[in-house]
Amino acid sequence: MGNWKMNHTIEEAIDFCEKVKEEGLVRTGKSRGVLLGVAPSFLSLQQVKRHSHGLIVAAQDCHYEDHGAYTSSVSIPMLEEVGVNWSIIGHSERRTYDNETSFVCNRKIKALVEHNFHVVYCVGETLKEYEAGLTKDIVKEQILTGLMNVTKDTISKVVIAYEPVWSIGTGKNASVEIAEDICRYIRSLIEGMFGKVAAGKILILYGGSVKPNNIREYISQEDVDGALVGGASLKSDSFKELLVNCL
Ligand code: PGA
Repeated sequence: MGNWKMNHTIEEAIDFCEKVKEEGLVRTGKSRGVLLGVAPSFLSLQQVKRHSHGLIVAAQDCHYEDHGAYTSSVSIPMLEEVGVNWSIIGHSERRTYDNETSFVCNRKIKALVEHNFHVVYCVGETLKEYEAGLTKDIVKEQILTGLMNVTKDTISKVVIAYEPVWSIGTGKNASVEIAEDICRYIRSLIEGMFGKVAAGKILILYGGSVKPNNIREYISQEDVDGALVGGASLKSDSFKELLVNCL
C-alpha cells in the first residue's frame, strides 16, 4: 500500500491511477495474490476512488465520531459516502505531530470496524526507544491498547503495519532481521489476544524506506506479508517496480 501523505494534487492523483490502469497493475497483482492500494489526501479520495479500477483506496486517518464539532476532521460516514472503506490509523506522523495516542487510535479502530471498514494500524518505536532497547515494549503497548476490545470477529478487518519511526523517510531502513523479528512478535501478540487462527490470518506489513530494490527481501520474510510505502509509491513507475519486484 502506498501512503501518499501530503503529496499529489487531485490531477496528479488521477494521472497516477490512469497510468496504473494502463499498465494493468491491479490485474497483474491479483493474479499473483498481491493486493495493491493507495492512501491519498482526503481531498483526492473521491476522484481516486472513481479512477481506482480495483486499487484499494484508503484514507490516511479519520475521526471516531460520526459527526460533531471537530474542526478539520473527516468522519467515517463521509468516507463511506465516497465509496472508501479502508483507513490508515496511528501513522507515526500523526502520533508525532498531532500527539495521537494509542487510546485515540483504539477509538478510531473500533469505530471503523463497526462500520465494516478495513484498518491499517501503524505501530513502531522512535530512534530513542530503539536505542534504549525498548522496541518490543513500545510495540506491545501500541498493539494491546490500540486493539483493546476489538472482537475476534472484527480483527480480520485489521492489518498491522510495523514502521520504525527512525526508518520512515530517512533511507535508513530496518534490517530484514529486525523487520521479521518485530513482525513475528506482533503476530505472537495477536495470538495472545485473538487466538491462533486470527494470528495466522492477520496481514502484517513492514514500512520505512521500502524501495523497489529492497521490497523483495522484506516480503520474503515469513511474518512480513506486505509493505506500507511512502516516497517510493508516489510515481507510477516506481509503484510498478515495487509490484514487479514482489512477484
Ligand atoms: P517512506 O514512508 O516509505 O517514505 O519511508 C513510509 C510511511 O510513512 O508509511
